[in-house]
Amino acid sequence: MDHHAAAFSPMLCLFLLLAVGHGQLDFKFYDTTCPLLTKIVRRGVWSAIANETRLAASILRLHFHDCFVDGCEGSILLDESTDFKGEKNAFPNRNSVRGYEVIDAIKANVEKACPSTVSCSDILTLAARDAVSLTGGPFWLVPLGRRDGLTANETAANTDLPSPFESLGDITTKFTSKGLDSKDVVVLSGGHTIGFAQCFTFKPRLFNFDGAGNPDPSLDESLLTSLRSVCPNQDDSNTNLVPLDSATSSKFDNSYFKNLANSSGILQSDQTLMSDNKTAALVLNYSKYPFLFYKDFGVSMVKMGNIGVLTGQDGEIRKNCRVVNN
Ligand code: HEM
Ligand SMILES: *[C@@H]1O[C@H](CO)[C@@H](O)[C@H](O)[C@H]1NC(C)=O
Ligand SMILES: *[C@@H]1O[C@H](CO)[C@@H](O)[C@H](O)[C@H]1NC(C)=O
Ligand SMILES: *[C@@H]1O[C@H](CO)[C@@H](O)[C@H](O)[C@H]1NC(C)=O
Ligand SMILES: *[C@@H]1O[C@H](CO)[C@@H](O)[C@H](O)[C@H]1NC(C)=O
Ligand SMILES: *[C@@H]1O[C@H](CO)[C@@H](O)[C@H](O)[C@H]1NC(C)=O
Repeated sequence: MDHHAAAFSPMLCLFLLLAVGHGQLDFKFYDTTCPLLTKIVRRGVWSAIANETRLAASILRLHFHDCFVDGCEGSILLDESTDFKGEKNAFPNRNSVRGYEVIDAIKANVEKACPSTVSCSDILTLAARDAVSLTGGPFWLVPLGRRDGLTANETAANTDLPSPFESLGDITTKFTSKGLDSKDVVVLSGGHTIGFAQCFTFKPRLFNFDGAGNPDPSLDESLLTSLRSVCPNQDDSNTNLVPLDSATSSKFDNSYFKNLANSSGILQSDQTLMSDNKTAALVLNYSKYPFLFYKDFGVSMVKMGNIGVLTGQDGEIRKNCRVVNN
């Protein structure tokens, strides 16, 4: 803490007590300390998407991968250091998660307006909300006041994030261990209405689903043909990209659920939502009622954004999202 902040510390403490109560997040957390925050974040996300639409999807996923590993405390944003291995190199993230530069650029602008005030984890949470609403999806209010973690954990990133090859039961267990439930699995999987997947994340479905050389029977025949043409059965196609929503990949809508209803999910973990009566009933509901999906998505995103947050005096307000402060 510098001298300037120290001089005001009694007032600051009172403010913090009022604002965060018992370690709770607050919608008005930065209203007096950084009134331009939401505008700066939105403009940063907007200009990134204007240049490359896919970044909306990448930022949404970046937030998910932050929250599922030691909570939403910006650990995924930390570069590897002598003190710890970075989460960026964990298997689910390496050569896959993207959008770090967008958060860096927004953080730099936020630091200019309000130095050492706003956490990287709050910036990422707001950016994910804006990524969704700027691509046509719902808007929701984000409770703020997260603080940034002091370390990263590559092992936790490898164990806690769901894999596209896991069963619905195992994926649901990973969600419930974070305080989410089976409905959140369905709702948040709807994030796959935007963005792309590399061929290797679903290739067994195309060529050898059963070990006897047959494709996944729950994959639509014409989609199978077109996926096989982008992802031929050889290793050099592994990193080719396919839209997760083959109908409208850059629009945040409910067509992800319409796709599942007609066997057109891309990942095994997507289509498997139709294999259980309870989750399938929700999928069909969202395929019919886009605004029900939008409402529930905002609710589930707030829940996900609250996982394991640091508040009050815990953690710190990082100056640079890639490194912990001295
Ligand atoms: C339910 C378990 C989930 C699994 C198994 C899963 C798996 C994956 C995989 C394998 C990819 C493709 C990565 C690549 O090819 O590099 C992906 C992309 C993506 N995921 Fe998920 N995901 C899950 C849940 C979520 C959630 C909860 C969200 C956000 C709410 C989300 C948002 C995204 C987005 C937006 C992309 C596209 C990213 C881009 O184009 O850069 N996913 N996911
Ligand atoms: C715009 O996106 C392209 C990739 O699509 C990237 O190479 C370029 O650096 C981006 N420009 C800006 C200003 O972000
Ligand atoms: C990292 O995460 C793993 C798996 O959750 C855990 O066993 C380990 O204690 C964590 N390491 C640190 C330093 O917190
Ligand atoms: C499945 O639904 C999507 C979205 O409504 C549509 O674009 C696609 O053509 C449908 N596919 C089949 C095989 O009906
Ligand atoms: C799921 O629904 C099908 C028919 O709709 C029914 O035959 C089956 O018993 C149900 N399974 C469970 C576990 O409820
Ligand atoms: C489907 O949505 C309606 C509201 O439109 C709700 O009353 C019903 O419980 C939902 N069904 C499921 C299985 O979620």
